[in-house]
Amino acid sequence: MLLNAIFLSLLPLAFAAGLHRLKLYKLPYRGIISDPHLEALYLSQKYATRSADKVGHRGVPLADFMKAQYFVRIRLGSPGRSFKVILDTGSSNLWVPSVKCTSVVCYLHAKYNSNSSTTYEANGTALSIPGLIDGFVSNDLLSIGDLKIAHQDFAEATKKPGFVRAQSFDGILGLAYDSISVRHIIPPFYSMNNAGLLDKPVFSVRLGSSETEGGEATFGGIDDTAFTGQLEYVPVCRTGYWEVEVEGILFGDMELELEDGTGAVLDTAASLINMPTDIAEMLNTQIGATVATLPELSFSFGGKAYPLKGEDYILNIRGICFSAFTGMDIDRPLWILGDVFLRKYYTVYDLGNNTVGFARSK
Ligand SMILES: *[C@@H]1O[C@H](CO)[C@@H](O)[C@H](O)[C@H]1NC(C)=O
Ligand SMILES: *[C@@H]1O[C@H](CO)[C@@H](O)[C@H](O)[C@H]1NC(C)=O
Ligand SMILES: *[C@@H]1O[C@H](CO)[C@@H](O)[C@H](O)[C@H]1NC(C)=O
Repeated sequence: MLLNAIFLSLLPLAFAAGLHRLKLYKLPYRGIISDPHLEALYLSQKYATRSADKVGHRGVPLADFMKAQYFVRIRLGSPGRSFKVILDTGSSNLWVPSVKCTSVVCYLHAKYNSNSSTTYEANGTALSIPGLIDGFVSNDLLSIGDLKIAHQDFAEATKKPGFVRAQSFDGILGLAYDSISVRHIIPPFYSMNNAGLLDKPVFSVRLGSSETEGGEATFGGIDDTAFTGQLEYVPVCRTGYWEVEVEGILFGDMELELEDGTGAVLDTAASLINMPTDIAEMLNTQIGATVATLPELSFSFGGKAYPLKGEDYILNIRGICFSAFTGMDIDRPLWILGDVFLRKYYTVYDLGNNTVGFARSK
């Protein structure tokens, strides 16, 4: 009896300890969305289906670094060096600049030096995304918040042509499925899970709206205080990205005509709402009135509606209003939901059940 009581009283604490929190930092919009088409261009490269021989080599063109708005701090090595990385639910590798990087832009970033880590293990396997990034595999201790992931393979980038104007971030931490990991490197989230560091194979993202409160990611569980209402889980329709089936989209009371098999990818490294070009043009011609009177754009996933108001999808950057609707044409009908959507909805990425959970962010 007594033991039982003690056990029960310890339980809530144990659960609380199982939630690993990681602070997100938000940058001001300044200079970030100078040209929305750049994001569409970057995303069309990121999401274009490559030929079969390149499957597994899909990667992250780094040209978008300058536009991503949120980053986290991680450490690599012992005693370790801190890196600012973008959490990217749309890719699956960890990339940081190498001390061996010869590109001028690397001088602007924190660099990984294996010589100064006692837990470094050499690997050396080359990996590259042609024209975008070159590097090789190394292995070291990765610290993400209070999680310590021993023996994580990651990419030391030695050449980064796409990096030029990107000074805000050092690297990328990919959180998508292992099936799209370049060189099939086991992604950090899988490593945490495989090492038994997580109570549950889930992570979640809450994007804050101000530079003083950038939001939070959690690993191993969800944050019940991050949302209102109930979490609704929707199956991932194609594992690879965190992609769900779009059942319908309403703009005001107008139903958009969608191609069969339209998907929506939750992409924490994208800023805008990217969609097929004809739809983006159509929506943007309808916009013009004052923000307060604009119709809602409402997505339907798993039988539930996820609306965005005009004030959500119109970005006011130093007094100038931008529509977040951007056209992107790739070989299949795909919408990329970036920060504009993710600031409004808290999302849970459940690798155990292959679902994405949605709830209204607090
Ligand atoms: C790392 O150590 C090796 C061997 O001592 C040395 O040749 C190399 O220059 C060092 N590299 C850096 C970046 O410190
Ligand atoms: C080098 O890294 C690759 C990719 O993660 C991995 O498959 C391979 O086993 C590693 N080799 C060694 C010797 O650790
Ligand atoms: C996910 O799967 C676990 C079992 O693996 C189950 O306990 C849990 O309820 C599931 N979550 C949802 C939201 O379906």
